[in-house]
Amino acid sequence: MTAKIIDGKTVAAELRARIASEVARLKSAHGVTPGLAVVLVGADPASEVYVRNKSKAVTEAGMNPVDRHLPATVSEVELLALIAQLNADPKVNGILVQLPLPKHIDAQKVIHAIASEKDVDGFHPLNVGRHASGSPGLVPCTPLGCVILAKTVKPSLEGLDAVVIGRSNIVGKPVAQLLLSENATVTIAHSKTRDLAAVCRRADVLIAAIGRPEFVRGDWIKPGAIVIDVGINRVTGEGGKSKIVGDVAYAEASRVAGAITPVPGGVGPMTIACLLLNTLRATCEHNNLPAPSL
Ligand code: GUN
Repeated sequence: MTAKIIDGKTVAAELRARIASEVARLKSAHGVTPGLAVVLVGADPASEVYVRNKSKAVTEAGMNPVDRHLPATVSEVELLALIAQLNADPKVNGILVQLPLPKHIDAQKVIHAIASEKDVDGFHPLNVGRHASGSPGLVPCTPLGCVILAKTVKPSLEGLDAVVIGRSNIVGKPVAQLLLSENATVTIAHSKTRDLAAVCRRADVLIAAIGRPEFVRGDWIKPGAIVIDVGINRVTGEGGKSKIVGDVAYAEASRVAGAITPVPGGVGPMTIACLLLNTLRATCEHNNLPAPSL
């Protein structure tokens, strides 16, 4: 058996097209244009690439990008002052501060300072708590992308055994919470889990968010499972060339799984699409308009 390839690029492009048409409708019917502020501190090359891609996607969706690049030497006080200014700016509907931040800045303090109704990353404790207790709020983009991709294979995840490997605040914990909202039976596994392979073998839906190249092997996968690979690991391949691989040994896994996301071209493109979706949702909320049905 060869797994169906879950084409994140195409799913993301379709979602972005629906968002763009909804943005156009908001503009013509209500004179409202969503604005997304992206704050980058320092010049980490990977972060610069992400931020550039985000701004491009924002513009393509018909939204207003508000880019703020600060030097790595900026003080925490100055960064918090910028966030206060963006919180108060009615043209800004979403605020994203690119992580990681330089060591002298307390990332938790910065995340807490973002107005929760503009927290399009879904990292603010109020949004984490809303999500955990079943109230509407903004949910993190990568986890949302994972669940949307799994549902392209099986529209209902109800009753399925879902195993999440990884317990980060950015992916592991929120994706587990989302899967629970979908009525899956959820296990969160991590570096201290005993017999991880056996735990994974129970999974109808397996989400790998560990950050270790090709850590999940083919014989860890239940035949027919949906495998969502969140990993983005740069490794040196044959011939000394650098390449990107996921957390799952793709060739092995695709011989066992029912469906699998490739890396690149799986979860990655969904993160930006979901960021646009969150910005659109926040804008509707700020303007007392009904939530978009996308
Ligand atoms: N750095 C890597 N991923 C993310 C993300 O989803 N949001 C933010 N703010 N920074 C990141």
